[in-house]
Amino acid sequence: MCGIVGIIGKTSVAPQIVEALRRLEYRGYDSAGVATLENGHLDRRRAEGKLRNLETKLSQAPLSGAIGIGHTRWATHGKPNETNAHPHATEKLAVVHNGIIENFRELKTGLEAKGIKFETETDTEVVAQLVTYEMRQGRPPIEAIAVTLPRLRGAFALGFLFSGEDDLLIGARHGAPLALGFGDGEMYLGSDALALAPFTDDITYLEDGDWAILHRTGVDIRDESGQSVRRPRHKIVTGSFMADKGNHRHFMAKEIHEQPEVVGRTLAHYVDFSAGRVALPFDLPFDFKDLKRLSISACGTAYLAGLISKYWFERLARIPVEIDVASEFRYREAPLEPGSLALFVSQSGETADTLASLRYATSEQQHTVSVVNVPTSTMARESAVVASTLAGVEVGVASTKAFTCQLAVLLSLAIAAGRARGTLSAEDEKELVDALIGVPGLMSEAIKREHQIEVLARELSKAKDVLYLGRGTSYPLALEGALKLKEISYIHAEGYAAGELKHGPIALIDETMPVIVIAPHDAVFEKTVSNMQEVAARGGRIILITDEKGALDTGLDTMATIVMPAAHPIVAPIVHSIPIQLLAYHTAVFMGKDVDQPRNLAKSVTVE
Ligand code: M6R
Repeated sequence: MCGIVGIIGKTSVAPQIVEALRRLEYRGYDSAGVATLENGHLDRRRAEGKLRNLETKLSQAPLSGAIGIGHTRWATHGKPNETNAHPHATEKLAVVHNGIIENFRELKTGLEAKGIKFETETDTEVVAQLVTYEMRQGRPPIEAIAVTLPRLRGAFALGFLFSGEDDLLIGARHGAPLALGFGDGEMYLGSDALALAPFTDDITYLEDGDWAILHRTGVDIRDESGQSVRRPRHKIVTGSFMADKGNHRHFMAKEIHEQPEVVGRTLAHYVDFSAGRVALPFDLPFDFKDLKRLSISACGTAYLAGLISKYWFERLARIPVEIDVASEFRYREAPLEPGSLALFVSQSGETADTLASLRYATSEQQHTVSVVNVPTSTMARESAVVASTLAGVEVGVASTKAFTCQLAVLLSLAIAAGRARGTLSAEDEKELVDALIGVPGLMSEAIKREHQIEVLARELSKAKDVLYLGRGTSYPLALEGALKLKEISYIHAEGYAAGELKHGPIALIDETMPVIVIAPHDAVFEKTVSNMQEVAARGGRIILITDEKGALDTGLDTMATIVMPAAHPIVAPIVHSIPIQLLAYHTAVFMGKDVDQPRNLAKSVTVE
């Protein structure tokens, strides 16, 4: 899951390639590189680490050339060092690659048997060598690509630049996204439209199996069988593409603070506030009342939003819900009754496992609804219904505002389902909508606890391990709290259902172990208090996140109690997301970690 870009321009393209790569850094930032053709000769610059390292190299040794390709890497095969950085090159070509070539070992063995030497540990170099081998046999570039692509297995996107070919780029898409951009006498290739937004808003998305031969004057798109095909061109709205940090130190901080606004904006899209009812902004090709089952799949934080919604769909609409992480769902061959509903949740809309699950569900004749934040994403294009979150561009790798917007959309859907199935009355709906209307205000209130949380984060930063506990919808929130803390602070953290504590994890509790308990004053509050007693009895240090009533009713000494404004129990998880995000953020900042781009991660995970 790397970012790739290619440009055939009129003047030197390296600065444009770097600009596009900056927009693709969300896909990985282990290394970066650019290759261009200067008077027909390939030249490249590559650097380990973030794009700024490559920029330094380019400022010391600039690349000219009006045609080039670039790459930002999230390492899959081989260490994230300069040798393994893309573009990979031979005397004939340079290639950039996103994804995995699954049969690279077998292909490499075959090439080595022919005496070809490899310089890197990557799967990508096999592609460079295979095409080069074909060209050495006398095949021109297009023919060499045509015979090579069918030999590659896996999910990938590729971009090729050829020595001596000043007006030719080739891109190929097989399971990983690739967009083409049309300019005035210029052509572009990119992992997404966002990368190309500074240059063009005229975009074509390649379909799976497509490959494209780009010249300055246009493009010839071929399908898997090599037939020329036409693919639609789209005008992309570029206005809101690139975000800045505003007055914040990090994107993550800005995105946490934006939540009252973007959750409000998302809700306004799904709820008719004056009528006190949910009004979905799309027609559904099914009726909720006919559904026997709902399957949800997603990854990471999006999965946890789905897990919270399981409680909502079951409680409010009485629909049995099955939920899986998408990497399991896609392979477990779940029997799905045709005509049931499959729901997918994804910020990027490009996550490989979630996309594969969507495709599996489509092939099993499921109605598909995807809750996505990027409206131009592959999942948005391939789902029968797109339920957009209006979070805006989320740059921080740790998902925050996309998560709470996903919750807002999922709760709106659950209420709509409840009404359609007759499990919620009009009064029930009105009560829930009133609760939803209050959410942005409550989130603003919650953000006011930031100073207390910042002070607390200093204590938390000393911990080696942290436990998060919750019941009901606070259980997935406990999992989300642990995920957030570990991904940006690298402190080991686990989330548990509070009732599970005594079945094993209680053995971990001692006076060094902070235990963060999320417990709004709801139907299971007293049960959670009993679990807190068990922690306290063993010397565990409790940080309690609750509301005013909960704070009064615990009767326990805590290391700290973060008091949230009182919220209707159904919407409480949206409000209680704020303190767990702020706690992770301030802990990581205090520890001096790179919160927006934590190590080993990428914003969009387009490999499985
Ligand atoms: O783009 P998606 O929502 O499909 O991404 C899913 C996960 O990769 C993502 O939520 C990840 O877990 C975040 N880093 C969590 O903060």
